[in-house]
Amino acid sequence: MSHRIVLLHGPNLNLLGTREPGIYGRETLAQIDELVQREGRELGAEVRTLQSNHEGALVDAIHQAREWAQGVVINPGALTHYSIALRDAISAVALPAVEVHLSNVHAREEFRHRSVIAPVCVGQIAGFGAFSYVLGLRGLIHYLQKKQAVQ
Ligand code: DQA
Repeated sequence: MSHRIVLLHGPNLNLLGTREPGIYGRETLAQIDELVQREGRELGAEVRTLQSNHEGALVDAIHQAREWAQGVVINPGALTHYSIALRDAISAVALPAVEVHLSNVHAREEFRHRSVIAPVCVGQIAGFGAFSYVLGLRGLIHYLQKKQAVQ
């Protein structure tokens, strides 16, 4: 396995499957984790996953990611829109991160249009349901491969 990726999920994403399925789909968090891990294996990447409803636990996980991972895929949930602590953690560890969302946040309430996380990420993917995570992982691996090639 050439790449090591941490996949983080923020608040309320443990409820996926039953939470507003019209917006977030019917896949459970366990199914999404499995989907991403399977995609990772096909692309030669190991993916470790964590969900937390607590901002500090996510900050800790980002700090710990520095010890092991080469990049982070993160769905910060509602923290996307206001957590400067999470944003600062991502920029502090200087690991490439990709922000993903199940729903198209830009087509929803105005408070979801702003991400304080996206400016410290390589990019953002939103609106493709569970497939957003697959796209996020592919985008991150592509980024890591390009970076390796120029080193
Ligand atoms: C979300 C979008 C956020 O606005 C919301 O608070 C979530 C889920 C998404 O994946 O579409 O919890 O991150």
